[in-house]
Amino acid sequence: MNDKKRILVTCALPYANGPVHIGHLAGVYVPADIYVRYLRMRGKDVLYVCGSDEHGVPITIKAREQGCSPQDIVDRYHKIIKDSFSGLGINFDIYGRTSSRVHEEGASEFFRKLYEQGKFITRESEQYYDPEAKTFLADRYIVGTCPKCGNEGAYGDQCEKCGSTLSPEELINPHSKLSGATPQKRKTTHWYLPLQDYEQWLRDWILEGHKEWRSNVYGQVKSWLDGGLQPRAVTRDLDWGVPVPVEGAEGKVLYVWFDAPIGYISNTRELLPQSWEKWWKSEETRLVHFIGKDNIVFHCIVFPSMLKAYGDGYILPDNVPANEFLNLEGDKISTSRGWAVWAHEYLEQFPGNEDVIRYTLTANAPETKDNDFSWKDFQARNNSELVAIFGNFVNRAVVLTHKYFGGKVPACGELLDIDKEVVAAIPALKASMEKNLEGYRFRDALKDAMGIARLGNKYISDTEPWKVAKTDMERTATILNISLQICADLSVAFEPFTPFAAGRLRKMLGVELDAGFDHRRGEQQTVNTFAEGEGRAIHTVHEGDTVSRSGLVLDWELLGRPQILPAGHAIGEPELLFEKIDDAQIDAQTARLEAIRAERIAREKAEEAKKVAPQKEECSFEDFEKMDIRTATVLAAERVPKTDKLLKLSIDTGIDKRTIVSGIAEYYAPEDMVGKQICILANLKPRVIRGIESRGMILMAKQGDGKMRFITPQEVLGNGSQVG
Ligand code: 2FM
Ligand code: ZN
Repeated sequence: MNDKKRILVTCALPYANGPVHIGHLAGVYVPADIYVRYLRMRGKDVLYVCGSDEHGVPITIKAREQGCSPQDIVDRYHKIIKDSFSGLGINFDIYGRTSSRVHEEGASEFFRKLYEQGKFITRESEQYYDPEAKTFLADRYIVGTCPKCGNEGAYGDQCEKCGSTLSPEELINPHSKLSGATPQKRKTTHWYLPLQDYEQWLRDWILEGHKEWRSNVYGQVKSWLDGGLQPRAVTRDLDWGVPVPVEGAEGKVLYVWFDAPIGYISNTRELLPQSWEKWWKSEETRLVHFIGKDNIVFHCIVFPSMLKAYGDGYILPDNVPANEFLNLEGDKISTSRGWAVWAHEYLEQFPGNEDVIRYTLTANAPETKDNDFSWKDFQARNNSELVAIFGNFVNRAVVLTHKYFGGKVPACGELLDIDKEVVAAIPALKASMEKNLEGYRFRDALKDAMGIARLGNKYISDTEPWKVAKTDMERTATILNISLQICADLSVAFEPFTPFAAGRLRKMLGVELDAGFDHRRGEQQTVNTFAEGEGRAIHTVHEGDTVSRSGLVLDWELLGRPQILPAGHAIGEPELLFEKIDDAQIDAQTARLEAIRAERIAREKAEEAKKVAPQKEECSFEDFEKMDIRTATVLAAERVPKTDKLLKLSIDTGIDKRTIVSGIAEYYAPEDMVGKQICILANLKPRVIRGIESRGMILMAKQGDGKMRFITPQEVLGNGSQVG
């Protein structure tokens, strides 16, 4: 393991304009939490930092929509997000806010120093301005029709319907979201960080120095660098954010992507005002940023360039394990469309199942490619893996120990081959788990942990202690001893993945865990001291306040060692580790999503239907007059054999009785046509279709979505009436 003294783990600061959903959890927070829990169990000094990102235009838009202040919005969502994280066992040392005073001061100071050192350039540019609201407009505040798909509600930076990236210039009929006025271009001056000056340095640092980074991260960085870096604006004309702390910058704030990453530092400062620098400015600290793939450029190019420009010993990330995206039931997660599973709702709807979502999101983590979450898979992972394998094994071991040995770990006798094999397999799985966790391959690490559970479950099924107990209590003791040792291994191995169940399991086994030091409790720490004895005692000393736990204390190091539960050790009462999730719970979730999907499809169809085909080239009156259009009645209709689309119609045209073959079988059954009065182009040159001579064409109206209907006079007329 990389053996720096300290590890600083940051998680992307979620925007406080909505709750967090499973995409966020799978992409950033669950993997980071696994990593931190693992490192702490290995005795590493880890600082785990996150917080809300409370600036940016979408927050101001939401506030306007809801008729409240941006502060109201961020207050509301900060709480929801914070509670969701702790509900899922994601306990940051600090979950701060970028609207805090410490952050405002820190971000201002950061900007001012770069400004004073001449690290910025200024540029005048033309930006859109709302003449009625008297304010510059961020691209998001400009709405118009998407030139690519015709969506009338496209934003100046993106069309959410077709996903195209746009600029306000491309919108058809652009108007301000604030007043509806047509935006005008006005000159404004902003500060820019000349990223191109850092290009070579970034190449050396990442492309040469960090070839081990995930290929998605490395590849994105390479393509940005190969494309050539440009100066990047770090200020905006907006009234929500950290004010630009220099003269002549009235009405301007720091760009949210300038201030947000500084939030990592501010939050550290807020937690550890005296000692924050050792986390950010010491070569003894290893920095790891957990983010989603849409944040790669900011964490690998922009923020490092800011830190480099600032100097003063700031360290750079040792790794940026960015995940790809998680889809939901085959569709892209979308906050605005409600196509998401929100963490806070999950916690309400599945109480006691915090681990199940952590487990499913890890097993399906989008580590190397986008992945999908489905409720059926969630149910299967719970019922067939957590309940049927992990839970079932633990339950059998604990219940049988109570039944045959009064709840005390029985002594281990002579080992048979089957015992030796299972005991020997665990250290190998542990080693693989370590390699995977340290290489940020959390899916694989979970498979290893589950491998231990599978091994245990198979062992107890194969050895059948409930049968052996009828004849051989000594052998039963050995089997249950080994089974309980595996349970103890599982209570450590699963701590990073399913911490609630791991805790319940330790309670059942009557053991504790040395889970490492948690900085929420303060600045000072004295590394745990162990007293060997019967089991191990743990004392965590924190500024003179000693937390002592004695009894049997497990840690990562003990995982896979023989006999970590001594014979005679009293275990606790059996308790279900996981419970089955039934179809009704899953059906309720899928029904909610299906309703959203159906509504979306209906809306899209309705929009499609409204689309009007462009007018054709002009034609002369003479051209039109050539067409002999008549009313006619369908006398008989039948399908043309071996075709899906064609009907053969016998028509009374008033002039004669004739046959027309028409491609309307997609829209009408033969019986729908018989007796109907229609309009036909009577003098169309006859054509032979599928061996049938067709004389004329039925006039149909075609809607934007392709739906077709025949044209019928408003009241029944004589057949052969001329249309024109
Ligand atoms: O993409 C996002 O959700 C951003 N709010 C992440 C910010 S990460 C950091 F730099 F603060
Ligand atoms: Zn579009």
